[in-house]
Amino acid sequence: MTRLFNLIAIQDLAREDIDRILDRAQEMEEISKKRSNQLGSRIMACLFFEPSTRTRLSFESAMLRLGGKVLGFADVGVSSAGGKGETLADTIRTVERYADIIVIRHPLDGSARLAAEFSNKPIINAGSGSEEHPTQALLDLYSIRKMKGTIDGMHISLCGDLKYGRTVHSLAMALSKYDVRIRFAAPSQLEMKPAIVNEIIRAGIDVEEVDNMADAVKATDVVYMTRIQKERFPDVNEYNAVKGQFRIRLEEVSLMKPDGIILHPLPRVDELDPAVDATPQARYFDQVEAGVVTRMAILDLILG
Ligand code: NCD
Repeated sequence: MTRLFNLIAIQDLAREDIDRILDRAQEMEEISKKRSNQLGSRIMACLFFEPSTRTRLSFESAMLRLGGKVLGFADVGVSSAGGKGETLADTIRTVERYADIIVIRHPLDGSARLAAEFSNKPIINAGSGSEEHPTQALLDLYSIRKMKGTIDGMHISLCGDLKYGRTVHSLAMALSKYDVRIRFAAPSQLEMKPAIVNEIIRAGIDVEEVDNMADAVKATDVVYMTRIQKERFPDVNEYNAVKGQFRIRLEEVSLMKPDGIILHPLPRVDELDPAVDATPQARYFDQVEAGVVTRMAILDLILG
């Protein structure tokens, strides 16, 4: 098994690496409550060039629960990259002198890979443009395994903005390492990139594509909903043409398998009616909790 150093993209991980992270996350359930000092001397830097609530705070919570320290910025405007035009390479060359590990979120595809080229310290990708969000995919897999008891054998619908949503890109690639069936459900303008669909089919996965919410939710075990990524649209008119089209309301929940679950990386806008929160299928706030133990596992496997 390869030693985990950087975590940039799901395709860098074999299934056994993913399973090892999920197993470690399970062990972290206890440690997360009791707290530990196993990373007591270690410092994590969080460089967030884009907004975040869950990813940054759960990384910080994970590091603090393991006894480590955290520093960083959550608003690019207060950094030299925002105010003075410093390059990403120079920012990384600086921060690697201050910390033992760097967690980065950046609006450009390829940014985390670039950061890794300039760093002697491990880099964790916390979202690179519309391309990848590997730690979210790992916590999504952990949530599925915990809530459904297994990943193999599951039938999963990935819904919403499959074109610009980085979470679904990483999750689709991660799921393709398991014995699953995948249904892609998106408005025609926001379909999954052909390169990813082809790669998943090549991995031997049974793939289906639908363009409406009713067909999206029927007969699957997991309905993974996503927000239309307004900030990634080159033209706001394109966004206006698709917004509000894909929504889960009580009506859609009634079409689901009774033991099906709804996941969502959050934040939600209008694609997930708050009335759905009270249904047994709604599990997205439990999914949030999986973010802490999964990120504890990642930090421990890299730094421990
Ligand atoms: C996602 C992201 O940033 O890609 N959020 C998250 O990390 N949970 C999803 C989104 O912003 O829609």
